[in-house]
Amino acid sequence: MSIQWYPHIAPFIANAPMFGFADVKLATTVAKAGGFGFIGGGYDFRPESTQLSTLDRQLAEARAVLGVKDEPLPLGVGFITLQPDGFIANAIPILQKHQVAAVWLSFPQADADHGALIQAIREQQDWDTKVFVQVGTVAAAKEAIRQGVDILVVQGTDAGGHQWLRGASLMSLLPEVRDLLSEAQNTTTAILAAGGIVDGRGAVAAMGLGADGIVMGTRFLATVECPAPSAMKQTILSSTDGGVTTIKSVRHDVFQSTDVFPRQYDGRAVIGINYQESEAGVDDDEVIRRYNEARQAGEDQRRTVWAGSSVGSINAVLSVDDVITTIRQEVRAVINRIRTVV
Ligand SMILES: Cc1cc2nc3c(=O)[nH]c(=O)nc-3n(C[C@H](O)[C@H](O)[C@H](O)COP(=O)(O)O)c2cc1C
Repeated sequence: MSIQWYPHIAPFIANAPMFGFADVKLATTVAKAGGFGFIGGGYDFRPESTQLSTLDRQLAEARAVLGVKDEPLPLGVGFITLQPDGFIANAIPILQKHQVAAVWLSFPQADADHGALIQAIREQQDWDTKVFVQVGTVAAAKEAIRQGVDILVVQGTDAGGHQWLRGASLMSLLPEVRDLLSEAQNTTTAILAAGGIVDGRGAVAAMGLGADGIVMGTRFLATVECPAPSAMKQTILSSTDGGVTTIKSVRHDVFQSTDVFPRQYDGRAVIGINYQESEAGVDDDEVIRRYNEARQAGEDQRRTVWAGSSVGSINAVLSVDDVITTIRQEVRAVINRIRTVV
């Protein structure tokens, strides 16, 4: 099975545009390994945004790394759209200049907020790009379909990082979103599954639920090429039983003073020192003070480790190439095994 626009990537595997972690190196390595690479573009669209100037530089570098000259750049950029002011004026020109092949939008203030951005992307001359929108509820999926999304990224609550506060796992969410498209006889919009997929078993399960391909975040965090600190990768490797050792909460952002997301979202992360101290009764101001003190001392142990509930199945830091090649082999093996039991 493949997605009509990417017949050469089958099964379709993309890295999530994890801001701060999915950089040009990770994205181009994913592309070279035969997947679809995303760079995390951030959330600040002001003219003076250093996130946008960094993105501009990374996209130029990606062209050089991939040896792409006149053709579109076969990569995507993901944005967090909770403050969309400036996106049209300041982000779109950079994306168009580099002829980026895909734009991923996630986490708007209200489900309807992406309409104007999608329209502005579509109106650009000389730039053909695909629009991905990440959704965590059936209502958000409906809205994105109405706004003309090309690829719906259906995010279940096993996902690492930010997500819908009230949601469901892929097991319940994905079939319902697939039915929306089937009932509307919509055969053009594609669906990707995100949330808890770390190997071929999860990939086949997602496709069984109705996905055309998969997105992984946490699995790509624990790769050689990901710029995440090694302490973060080690936390993922040593965590098992993710339903117990990770938790969906708005508290992770509170502790590290990144609580800027609207209340319709929270985030899944490993339960770390901050969370444990808070549960033991230490008040928020003191947890935040300890967090800042550790940061200033250059220590990573209080940093939030955003990670999905499948951490228990990630047991080694692998190269991106190994992750993608192994998943492709596992997908074939799992399908063969299923044939023996049906
Ligand atoms: C460390 C980390 C950072 C993330 N940052 C972003 C982001 O910047 N934008 C976004 O749309 N999603 C982000 N996500 C969520 C992913 O898009 C995706 O839904 C999630 O990683 C899928 O679940 P998995 O981690 O179990 O694979 C992030 C996830 C993680 C683990």
